[in-house]
Amino acid sequence: MSEIQALTQQALADIDAAATPDAIEALRVALLGKSGTITGRLKQLGALPPEQRKAAGEAINQARDTVSTALAARKTALADAALDARLATETVDVTLPGVDAERGGLHPISRTLERMADIFGRLGFELTEGPEIEDDWHNFEALNFPPHHPARAMHDTFYIADEGGEGRRLLRTHTSGMQVRYMLQAVADGSGPPLRMISLGKVYRSDSDQTHTPMFHQCEGLLIDGHASLADLKGTLVEFVRAFFERDFEMRFRPSYFPFTEPSAELDIAWQQPDGSTRWLEVLGCGMVHPNVLRNVGIDPEKYTGYAFGMGVERLTMLRYGVDDLRAFFENDVRFLRQFA
Ligand code: DAH
Repeated sequence: MSEIQALTQQALADIDAAATPDAIEALRVALLGKSGTITGRLKQLGALPPEQRKAAGEAINQARDTVSTALAARKTALADAALDARLATETVDVTLPGVDAERGGLHPISRTLERMADIFGRLGFELTEGPEIEDDWHNFEALNFPPHHPARAMHDTFYIADEGGEGRRLLRTHTSGMQVRYMLQAVADGSGPPLRMISLGKVYRSDSDQTHTPMFHQCEGLLIDGHASLADLKGTLVEFVRAFFERDFEMRFRPSYFPFTEPSAELDIAWQQPDGSTRWLEVLGCGMVHPNVLRNVGIDPEKYTGYAFGMGVERLTMLRYGVDDLRAFFENDVRFLRQFA
């Protein structure tokens, strides 16, 4: 065997034994690098007698090609083996169930608030919000509750420290004060009347039992225009009740009293009992806006009339979903809340 053949044999054996990409690279440098063994042989060609050069040149070139092919093949083989090893350890079981995020849902009261805003929105009522800490004037006085009127007794609430008298502040007992705020604003910026608004939000009373919580929500509505009538009020509310419950009821408007409406009424619906009988259930209060209220906000009662209504959001939610204890809405027991999600 010629010397170059022996060198090639040895090189192929070394390449075969190389176990890492680094070992392959070291072999490449040692054999084919600038001062590698095979490169060295090529450099020595010129020293050979001319008649030997051609054969020796061909032999060395062939050795270089063989070695370089073997290096490349071994390099690929090592890379493939490394990839196979990784794939074998990093298996992904695509048949496992996915990891699902915990999905939340809207609180039933939020659902009702959205539902009310949506139904009245379609009837053209603008949604508005206002402060929960209110002053005596907006909560009572402007709504025609004189200072010592007995109607105030139904609205016992939480007063904010020592400011006495009519300027004192309190946690609002109803959303009706929003009628006053909305009308004052509309008069001030010239946007109304005519006007239509609803206001949704929290109200407070010092009450607590199965059907009362110290904080609850109300939906207030108000429409003022040149010729609003009791018939319009009835039409709007009957439409609302049908849309809200998604069914029809026998309904009645029963005369009632609120200082800020005249005449005043309560709307009752004929509610089907589990035993099949029906019972009248009160769902909201309403009436034609009292002329004193219009005067208090600078609207001429000779030119404009209007109607207003107010309802308890929890009460309507309880009826719609068949919940019998109001307190369940505020205990945050997920077993209860999940039923609505
Ligand atoms: N504010 C009243 C309450 O809390 C409910 C109410 C009754 C509101 C009649 C109205 C209305 O707008 O016209 O008891």
